[in-house]
Amino acid sequence: MTGRPVIVDTDPGQDDAVAILLALASPELEVLGITAVAGNVPLDLTSRNAMVTCELAGRPEVKVFAGCDRPMQRDLFTAEYVHGATGLDGADLPDPRMPLQEAHAVDFLAETLAGAQPGSITLCTLGPLTNIGTLLERHPGAAAGIREIVMMGGGFFEGGNVTPAAEFNIYVDPEAADIVFGSGLPLTMIPLDATHQALILPDHLSRLRRRGAVGEAVAGWLEFYERWDVDKYGMEGGPLHDPCVIAYLLQPGLFTGKDCNVRIETVSPLTRGMTVVDWWGVTRAPANCTVIRRVMAGEFFDLLIERIGRL
Ligand code: RIB
Ligand code: CA
Repeated sequence: MTGRPVIVDTDPGQDDAVAILLALASPELEVLGITAVAGNVPLDLTSRNAMVTCELAGRPEVKVFAGCDRPMQRDLFTAEYVHGATGLDGADLPDPRMPLQEAHAVDFLAETLAGAQPGSITLCTLGPLTNIGTLLERHPGAAAGIREIVMMGGGFFEGGNVTPAAEFNIYVDPEAADIVFGSGLPLTMIPLDATHQALILPDHLSRLRRRGAVGEAVAGWLEFYERWDVDKYGMEGGPLHDPCVIAYLLQPGLFTGKDCNVRIETVSPLTRGMTVVDWWGVTRAPANCTVIRRVMAGEFFDLLIERIGRL
């Protein structure tokens, strides 16, 4: 049985890396390629970190492509304050030996989607939407190959994590997000409102540490990565954002939300990158996105830890 074809667009980042591991550990999915984008750290590091993660998973054959090294219209804003200087601080892993693919990630996306059955490929976006916005702008026909886009990004009742209004992935490249949300493509958005329920608890870390070298590395990443959110929000653990995207594809029943109209603020410096979610339908504007608001956190971590244990 071949799995559901997906392409993971990502800015590793520890939580991205755990999402990549979850995808590679799950036979329900066929990872056609990984496209790196500048975000948590610059592109040279997100590309490297994606390869480090594939080798940690024992999957050096996975194709990793470097994409856009800065947002479509703005300067790059990075998050070493969360992820550390390497983007994967918390575990000491060897430099990758697998090759970075020659093609630009946007060209890989365009060619793969052009050659695919219509509506067959799911894009899992874990970082700023620069690669996807650029793809849709340069290769509008590529959209025909996309089944849906499932993204980690945004926030509404929960607000933002970079500014009071904006979540990091949308804040970094609001123009790219505006293209994606205006594309008419099937979208599912997993915002802070959901991912802030997926808190990393000490029990999760101890269970991961009992799952071999991969589990040990993941626990080290998460212990490093969570401290910023714990300090900022006073939560009992850090939110594990990006793996929610993959878990949604594996077990959608763990997630609940509803179809809403979502628009992106691209003008105001005060609210740049805000996802304006019409949760109550007050604008009567047509829904363009399924917005996830709840995740069953215990079952999410059970799934994640079980799959990590397979690597
Ligand atoms: O706001 C959280 C998101 O921004 C996550 O995807 C994290 O990896 C960073 O990219
Ligand atoms: Ca990310």
